[in-house]
Amino acid sequence: ATPIILDCDPGHDDAISLILALSSERLNPLAVTTSAGNQTPDKTLNNALRILTLLNRADMPVAGGAVKPLARELIIADNVHGESGLDGPKLPDPSFDPLTQNAIELMAEKVRQSAVPVTLVPSGPLTNIALFIANYPELHSKVERIVLMGGAAGVGNWTPAAEFNIFVDPEAADMVFKSGIPITMCGLDVTHEAQIMDEDIERIRAIPNPVAQCVAELLDFFMIYHRDPKWGFTGAPLHDPCTIAWLLKPELFTAQECWVGVETKGEYTQGMTVVDRYQLTGKTANATVLFDLDRQGFVDLIVDCLSAYN
Ligand code: BDR
Ligand code: CA
Repeated sequence: ATPIILDCDPGHDDAISLILALSSERLNPLAVTTSAGNQTPDKTLNNALRILTLLNRADMPVAGGAVKPLARELIIADNVHGESGLDGPKLPDPSFDPLTQNAIELMAEKVRQSAVPVTLVPSGPLTNIALFIANYPELHSKVERIVLMGGAAGVGNWTPAAEFNIFVDPEAADMVFKSGIPITMCGLDVTHEAQIMDEDIERIRAIPNPVAQCVAELLDFFMIYHRDPKWGFTGAPLHDPCTIAWLLKPELFTAQECWVGVETKGEYTQGMTVVDRYQLTGKTANATVLFDLDRQGFVDLIVDCLSAYN
């Protein structure tokens, strides 16, 4: 099984990503760390604990990370994810505590101890990952890859130019893309194809276990923000689960090796990911950028993963 560390800011789609990651015997989650993003750091940490409690996984090492971006004030997405960060379902209170270590210490410990290189799977702002990279240069060679949700080759979802995770901490994203560690970028180009429709939610609701019920309720709430006709969506884009889907079934995706730069100074373009699809810069590719997705295959994979909780 592929050893992974999930660094997340749950967040509805982060929560679903966690649930999928822990459902498969082909992935070996070593730890869950949390970043500030969709909600404040206390809430994202608590939400990770609540989801793991629902999954009966109090054995999972969990640690909270940086409380704010490297060089900026925190921006949260409570308009998408609600007051708690996971509004909608009734979730259990956490049955266990996080570790007293912080996120990057836990990442370092797990990466150092692992017999094989570890894949990092960030689904929030990249603050913790950037701090890990900066503080533990000796561990870079023990990171297999960073499979992240963030950015876009096309338009943004938080500003016209920027996707939320990169916009919140562009300096961190810049460090990650410059790190030399192999990267898979699940940006909006692909995640907007990963739309979950009303009929898919009903399919999930019909899976007879409490985890699938919770996912259906998370999706009911997540749908509300995405129903605004301005987006042109039929369903809700399941951004973060694309990372886990790519790890489990890369054949569902099309990808291109590209150089990606992060704009940290632009007047209108802060947090934009500049994706060189036509090799115009002459710079060496630093990311595998995902573009297209077999949507039906993606939904089937989610249903399979959730059925494993029966
Ligand atoms: C990203 O922002 C967050 O709201 C989601 O959890 C996802 O990681 C999408 O832009
Ligand atoms: Ca997220």
